[in-house]
Amino acid sequence: MNPQDSQFHETILIVDDDTHVREDLHEILAYHKYTCVEARDGKEALQIITNQPIDLVLLDLKLPRIDGLEVLKQGKQKKPDLPFIIISGQGTIQAAVEATKAGAFDFVEKPLDADRILLRIRNALEKRHLQRERDQLLQEARNRYRMVGNSARMQEVYALIDRAARVNSKVLITGESGTGKELVARAIHLNSKRATHPFVPMNCSAIPDALIESELFGHVKGSFTGAVSNYPGKFMAANKGTLFLDEIGDMNMAMQAKLLRAMDDQAIFPVGGTEPHDIDVRIICATHKDLPTLIEEGRFREDLYYRINVIQIHLPPLRERTEDIQPLAEFFLQEICNREGWPEKTFSPAVWPILRTYHWPGNVRELRNIVERVAVIAPGTQIEAHLVTEVLENVRPTPFEPERIKPLREARQEFEREYIRHALIVNNKKILATARAIGLQRSHLWKKLKQLGINPKNL
Ligand SMILES: Nc1ncnc2c1ncn2[C@@H]1O[C@H](COP(=O)(O)OP(=O)(O)OP(=O)(O)O)[C@@H](O)[C@H]1O
Ligand SMILES: [Mg+2]
Repeated sequence: MNPQDSQFHETILIVDDDTHVREDLHEILAYHKYTCVEARDGKEALQIITNQPIDLVLLDLKLPRIDGLEVLKQGKQKKPDLPFIIISGQGTIQAAVEATKAGAFDFVEKPLDADRILLRIRNALEKRHLQRERDQLLQEARNRYRMVGNSARMQEVYALIDRAARVNSKVLITGESGTGKELVARAIHLNSKRATHPFVPMNCSAIPDALIESELFGHVKGSFTGAVSNYPGKFMAANKGTLFLDEIGDMNMAMQAKLLRAMDDQAIFPVGGTEPHDIDVRIICATHKDLPTLIEEGRFREDLYYRINVIQIHLPPLRERTEDIQPLAEFFLQEICNREGWPEKTFSPAVWPILRTYHWPGNVRELRNIVERVAVIAPGTQIEAHLVTEVLENVRPTPFEPERIKPLREARQEFEREYIRHALIVNNKKILATARAIGLQRSHLWKKLKQLGINPKNL
């Protein structure tokens, strides 16, 4: 092997009581640009592991003072992600098994072959490198989807998230629009064993009935007009991870039956396919609707309800946990300032009573939008109470001005403009969600926007 092949220039601790072995290894590794540290016995090895930055340990099992297996065990306790490669003359299966159980990455027998040992070292270091990258990405994701608010009601929610993260049970998340249902689903996933596998959200209300089956289960090329290639579907995309079925209450009855079947069989049939695909997917559902009522109305299958409702997490509306309003608002304000690269802004203390008494029909999402609006229009670094009042009054529809009686048509337009603007803001400027929230067809809403001169992008 070529020294240039060495991808890593890291520090390796060589532990062996045999001076020749240490010197040989040292020479090979130094030639391949690794930094080497040597230890002659177990005690010295443990001291170095504890006190020096080491990236990998080559460890002989038979050592004076503290034996190799003990060094491995204690070393792993101190540095759990430090890789150990065992080198031993007594290459018995028994020793290998014990060392692997105690957390050794690999095992090489004496006499040592340079290429073989270099390859093992590279594998171990690369694996640790990937592991670190994964841990870092995971940490970033956890920060990105951080949940704020420490009210007693939310602490109950966090306790349930913890419990749900430890098992594979299905979870049903309920709560009004904008209360954080998707965030909770992500938190469960990111804290579960599935965290390094995909989290795949699917909004059941946003997909037309005709397409939902293929969207979920995938389809085979040519199975229907438009199926120009194989499509794996959300279940496959979420394999080993978590599938988040949002607005499950809007799924039609026929699809509910198919979903139930897939859950029972842990297998799916792609549309037009003949072979079932095994799946390993954790399912989390959410809805802002009351499923028991839908069951009574014959619009939701009772058996599916019991299947998905193993752990239920209910998110209280923001108006029922007003102590969360301040930390949330401060969090969103900071986030916006960071995102825009503005100097830090703060709220004047007089804003809190105003924000606490508002009824927050759009919950946390609405709070976030309000904070963004005041942050954008605030002239200085302090956000004054009158500004907050102004913005809140603006999002609340004002059907008439007291000074002047307008023609009904004009007043109605004004009301509609404010009302739809408000609905759009509450729904994150999403057309479909807004249309649903106000009971209009999507195309009808588009027409209205045009008519009223509202551009959602400029809100
Ligand atoms: N506890 C919280 N901490 C920080 N941000 C939050 C919290 N709860 C909600 N949010 C934010 O509020 C917005 C709405 O949250 P989310 O989309 O999870 O709500 P939802 O209940 O799924 O809403 P909908 O029913 O409308 O789909 C998101 O931007 C989310 O990041
Ligand atoms: Mg949602």
